[in-house]
Amino acid sequence: MNATLYQQIQQFYDASSSLWEEIWGEHMHHGYYGADGTEKKERRQAQIDLIEEVLKFALDEELEGEEETQGDIFPTSSRPLVSVNSGSSDILDVGCGIGGSSLYLAGRFGAKVTGITLSPVQAERAKQRAREFGLGNRTNFQVADALNMPFADNSFDLIWSLESGEHMPDKVKFLQECHRVLKPGGTMIIVTWCHRPIDNSPLTPEERKHLEEIYRVYCLPYVISLPEYAEIARQLPLKNLRTADWSKAVAPFWNMVIDSTFSLQALWGLLFSGWSTIQGALSLGLMQRGYESGLIRFGLICGQKES
Ligand SMILES: C[S@@+](CC[C@H](N)C(=O)[O-])C[C@H]1O[C@@H](n2cnc3c(N)ncnc32)[C@H](O)[C@@H]1O
Repeated sequence: MNATLYQQIQQFYDASSSLWEEIWGEHMHHGYYGADGTEKKERRQAQIDLIEEVLKFALDEELEGEEETQGDIFPTSSRPLVSVNSGSSDILDVGCGIGGSSLYLAGRFGAKVTGITLSPVQAERAKQRAREFGLGNRTNFQVADALNMPFADNSFDLIWSLESGEHMPDKVKFLQECHRVLKPGGTMIIVTWCHRPIDNSPLTPEERKHLEEIYRVYCLPYVISLPEYAEIARQLPLKNLRTADWSKAVAPFWNMVIDSTFSLQALWGLLFSGWSTIQGALSLGLMQRGYESGLIRFGLICGQKES
């Protein structure tokens, strides 16, 4: 079952990543539009703001001072993660795309970053981008499965996974693998698509149908709710476990993507990008409507491994 799913994911990203980069840039994730989603800003800035807001939420006490990050590919003045002051820290970007976050974090923290993806096209492009930005010697990109990572226990200071958890066919194994490769005292940050909590009312048949459509179009096996992620994280266990639902803050992102999909450049690119990419573009409204109805949620799960 995973083999077929993984092939679909690989093909989806192999086929769509260059078009995405051409139209929307190197970040393949939502943007942040203020806590209630009302801030107006340029899409790319919103994506960088999402990274910064997530870092602030997860590492709050660890970050020193404020830095200007407006529109940078990555901030030029870097600083180490305070918890690993003694030298360069090691970050793992799980589901790294073409290395948007990876290069940003490498610059931001003066860190070494390893990125993994299922797509060879993405791994190659990430390497190329790292060289272009002079980060080739501090970054490493490879094709590897997040559920079976080729890394020793306790290898990384920070595990960063931005919008890849929804693709994982076993959410428990996913978090366990992230926990296994995290150093004691290190921080895990998982940001992922969820469905609404189901404690008070189970998903309706219409909601299930809506989710099935999203799964089909974006190559997802299934998603779970934020409280379910929190329960998995509790069992690992994680210290200082914190979760947040940022659906409101990110929902406006889909309006921007839908608008820009109808530019001539995007439509022309779509013509040559294959059926899975075209389907993805035609189905952008699924996510938009999912946020509107409260079915789709944008979840954050973070905490530290026991020292
Ligand atoms: C939506 S993209 C997010 C990319 C990146 N985090 C970003 O924000 O720009 C999802 C990524 O998850 C990766 N992915 C999905 N399933 C994976 C798995 N089992 N192991 C490793 N990577 C996986 C895909 O290859 C893709 O790079």
